[in-house]
Amino acid sequence: MSLMAALCVNMVTVNMLLSVFFLSGVSAQCGSITPAALFIDAPKEMEALSGSCLLIPCIFRAKDGTQFDSSREIYGVWIKNDPRFSNKDNVIFNSSQSVNSYKMQMTGNLREQNCTTLFSDLDKSKTNKYFFRIESEHFRATACDDPLQITVRDSPWSPRINISGEAKEKKSVTISCSAFTSCPHSPPQLTWNLQQNSHSQIEKNTDGTFTSKIQQSITLSDSHDGFNISCSATYPVDEGKPGKTKETQQTLSVTYAPKETSASISPSGLVSAGSWVNLTCSSRANPPISSFSWFLKTKDGSMKVAEGQFYTVNMTNMTESYYCEATNILGHNRSSWIHLKNEESFPLSTILAVTVSVVIVLIFLPLCVCRLKRKNPTQQQTQNQTGEEEEIHYGDIKFSDRRAAPSSVSEQDSGQQQETVYARIQVSKAESSSEQSAEGLQDLYAQVNKK
Ligand SMILES: *[C@@H]1O[C@H](CO)[C@@H](O)[C@H](O)[C@H]1NC(C)=O
Ligand SMILES: *[C@@H]1O[C@H](CO)[C@@H](O)[C@H](O)[C@H]1NC(C)=O
Ligand SMILES: *[C@@H]1O[C@H](CO)[C@@H](O)[C@H](O)[C@H]1NC(C)=O
Ligand SMILES: *[C@@H]1O[C@H](CO)[C@@H](O)[C@H](O)[C@H]1NC(C)=O
Ligand SMILES: *[C@@H]1O[C@H](CO)[C@@H](O)[C@H](O)[C@H]1NC(C)=O
Ligand SMILES: *[C@@H]1O[C@H](CO)[C@@H](O)[C@H](O)[C@H]1NC(C)=O
Ligand SMILES: *[C@@H]1O[C@H](CO)[C@@H](O)[C@H](O)[C@H]1NC(C)=O
Ligand SMILES: *[C@@H]1O[C@H](CO)[C@@H](O)[C@H](O)[C@H]1NC(C)=O
Repeated sequence: MSLMAALCVNMVTVNMLLSVFFLSGVSAQCGSITPAALFIDAPKEMEALSGSCLLIPCIFRAKDGTQFDSSREIYGVWIKNDPRFSNKDNVIFNSSQSVNSYKMQMTGNLREQNCTTLFSDLDKSKTNKYFFRIESEHFRATACDDPLQITVRDSPWSPRINISGEAKEKKSVTISCSAFTSCPHSPPQLTWNLQQNSHSQIEKNTDGTFTSKIQQSITLSDSHDGFNISCSATYPVDEGKPGKTKETQQTLSVTYAPKETSASISPSGLVSAGSWVNLTCSSRANPPISSFSWFLKTKDGSMKVAEGQFYTVNMTNMTESYYCEATNILGHNRSSWIHLKNEESFPLSTILAVTVSVVIVLIFLPLCVCRLKRKNPTQQQTQNQTGEEEEIHYGDIKFSDRRAAPSSVSEQDSGQQQETVYARIQVSKAESSSEQSAEGLQDLYAQVNKK
C-alpha cells in the first residue's frame, strides 16, 4: 500500500517536472533575438462564433531592461500554433503587410502598448493557439509564454437571465438578460418577453471582453410567480445569412403570503343534526402553506377549534359559523365565514324563500304579461279573447256572488211592492165599496196600469 502510494506520488512529481521542463523548453526555443522578452495581458482562452468576429483585448509589455522604443515604427504580428515560425505559413498576420492570410486588424495603438486586435471572418478551422509578436527596429520579441487559445464554435452562446434582489411580493427586483459579446462591432440582438423596447447596452468586463445586456426593474406581485422569462440572443453572422439565435428560459419564483383563502363544505346541501360534515380549506402561497386553522364563531368572538386542511364536524341543531386561516412563513390569510345549517332550520328558511318568491312573482308577473302583449301582436288577440273570457267568467262569478243576495232582496221588494199595490187596490176597493163610487175604482186601476 505505502509502496503504491509512494509510486503514485513519484509519478505525479515526474509528470509535473516534465511539464515544467516542456514549458520552459518552449520558452527557451522561442525564436527571437532577445528570448522571452515580451509579455501580453490578454485572456488565456477565448471563444468565438463562426461567421462573426472576435475582439481580442490585449496589452503588451517588454521585459525590464530591454530596449523598447515606442517612438519608433512598431509592427504587431500574430503567429498561430507554434511561436517558432520556422514555418512562415504560421505567421498569419503582420501589421506591416497589407495582405495577410487571416483577416485581422490592430485596433489598439501599439505605441501605447495596446495590442487589441479585431479578428474577423472566423470559421472552425481557425480554432488554434495564437502568439503575439512585436517587431521594431531594435526590438523583436514573441510573447512565447502567453499563448492565447481561440476556440471557434458554430452555435451561439446562451444568454443568461439574472434576477438581482429578493424575489418576494411587493419587492422590486432588476431582471437582466445578458449575452457574451465576442464582437462588440456586431453585438447580438437581445429580445425577451418583458418590456419590449428595452435598449441593449454593451458592457466591458474586467478581463476586457464584452457583454450585451438588457434589463428592467419590476415590483413583484404574486401574479409574477411562475412566470417564464424567456430571452433570446441573435448574433449577426456573415452578411446575407440569418443570424444565429439561442434562447434561455427562467421561471420566476416569487414568494408571497397566502392568497384567495376559501373554505368549502361537503356535502354542500342541508344535513341533519348528528351527521358528519367535512370542511376543506384551500389557499395558495409560495412557499406552500405550512398550517391551516379552523375558527368557530362563539358569542365571545372566534375560537380556534382545529388545525389541518380538513375538518370534520358533527352537525348540531344550531347554525354554526366557521372560517379557516392559511399560514406560511410570510404571513396568513383567512377565508370568509361559512355557515353550517341543518335541516331543522329548513321550514323557516323555506317560508322566507317562498314569501320572497311570491312577492317577486306578484311584482313581476303583470310586468311580464304587459311586455308579452306589446311584443307579440298576433298572440295578443288570442290572449285577449281568452283573457276576456276568463275575466268575464271571473266577473260573472263575482257579480252573481254579490248580486245573488241583493237581487233576491229586490225581487222580494218588487214582489212586496206589487203586493202592496195590489193590496192598495184591494183596500181602495174595500173603501170604495163602502164610501167611494165605481169611477174612483176605475181611476185607481188606471193608475196601477200606468205603473
Ligand atoms: C513582418 O513584415 C516585415 C516587413 O514586411 C518583415 O520584415 C518581417 O519579417 C515580418 N515579420 C514576420 C514575423 O514575418
Ligand atoms: C486598447 O485599444 C482599444 C481600442 O482599440 C480600447 O478600446 C481599449 O480601451 C485600449 N486599452 C487600454 C488599456 O487602453
Ligand atoms: C446577478 O447580478 C448581480 C448584480 O447585478 C450579481 O451580483 C450576481 O452575481 C449575478 N448573478 C449571476 C448568476 O450572474
Ligand atoms: C415554464 O417553463 C417550464 C420549462 O422551462 C415549463 O415546464 C413550464 O410549464 C412553463 N410554464 C409556463 C407557465 O409556461
Ligand atoms: C386575503 O387575501 C386576499 C387576496 O387573495 C386579500 O384580498 C385579502 O385582503 C386577504 N385577507 C386577509 C385577512 O389578509
Ligand atoms: C353527533 O353528536 C351527537 C351528540 O353530541 C351524538 O348523539 C351523535 O351520535 C353524533 N353523531 C355521530 C355521527 O357520531
Ligand atoms: C369526509 O371525509 C372523509 C375522509 O376524510 C370521508 O371518508 C367522508 O366520506 C367524507 N364525508 C363527507 C360527507 O364528505
Ligand atoms: C338543540 O337541542 C337541545 C337538546 O339537545 C335543545 O336544548 C335546544 O333547545 C335545541 N336548540 C334548537 C335551536 O333547536
